[in-house]
Amino acid sequence: MDRTAPAPRELLEIAVEVARDAAATAYRMRAEGVSVAATKSTATDVVTAADRAVERQVMDALHRLRPADAVLGEEYGAGGPAGPGGPGGVRWILDPIDGTVNYLYGLPHCAVSLAAEVDGQVVAGVVRNVSTGEEWTATLGGGAWRDGERLRCSTETDLGQSLVATGFGYDPGRRAHQARVIAELIPHVRDIRRLGAAALDLCLAAEGRVDAYYEKGLAAWDLAAGGLVAGEAGLRVGGLGGLPAGPDMVIAAPPALFEPLHARLADLDASGGP
Ligand code: IPD
Repeated sequence: MDRTAPAPRELLEIAVEVARDAAATAYRMRAEGVSVAATKSTATDVVTAADRAVERQVMDALHRLRPADAVLGEEYGAGGPAGPGGPGGVRWILDPIDGTVNYLYGLPHCAVSLAAEVDGQVVAGVVRNVSTGEEWTATLGGGAWRDGERLRCSTETDLGQSLVATGFGYDPGRRAHQARVIAELIPHVRDIRRLGAAALDLCLAAEGRVDAYYEKGLAAWDLAAGGLVAGEAGLRVGGLGGLPAGPDMVIAAPPALFEPLHARLADLDASGGP
């Protein structure tokens, strides 16, 4: 079916409304106590009841507001129509709680991440910190914002002076490889941060609270909204060897830092290993 998608601004308004309610649910459920509902890829890759409840809530809200759209969520996969439904079709991409381990431990670095994709391109996204209420938004071509303030990434040009955020997968073999990469990278940067929520890491890079970010193994729901926020704040967002950012590698760095960071990561085979 050929449809005309709404303007990114309209999709963002829906995303923000839905994400705020979702974050409120996650906050309330955390206050009431949290426990592990299940594990996924490994024994440390947990799902809480809140991950599931928040995802259901967002799916229901999107189906009510935009019944023809597809939804991809971290916990339940695809919902609604099988796909975005041809040209102009919208697909929502949701991480109900990014930073689930932080959420479990009561660390204030976890977020609801919701993006709208049209014809395979993310055009609007919101990331809302469940604990602090900080909210980052972006529309394609419309800039990145936090709580009304336009965001610009770091102007750092020296990798040696750069604070670089990253994250680890849940698979022990992958983590061992990622640790080897860090051991070789850390002498060449100011320092490394592992904060525990990829969507928030990308938003922090968008406002220069870290200079750059990279990680292997991100899923679409980790990257969609935060990647748009980062790109709209002036970061170059890509993978290794000219590939787009994706599961093999996401690098988000100010233009002057992208090549030197990319060169180090390529030398270290950062997208290799399990
Ligand atoms: C994880 C977090 C973490 C990153 C992992 C992700 P989850 O998402 O974003 O920072 O290093 O790659 O899987 O499991 O908390 O939704």
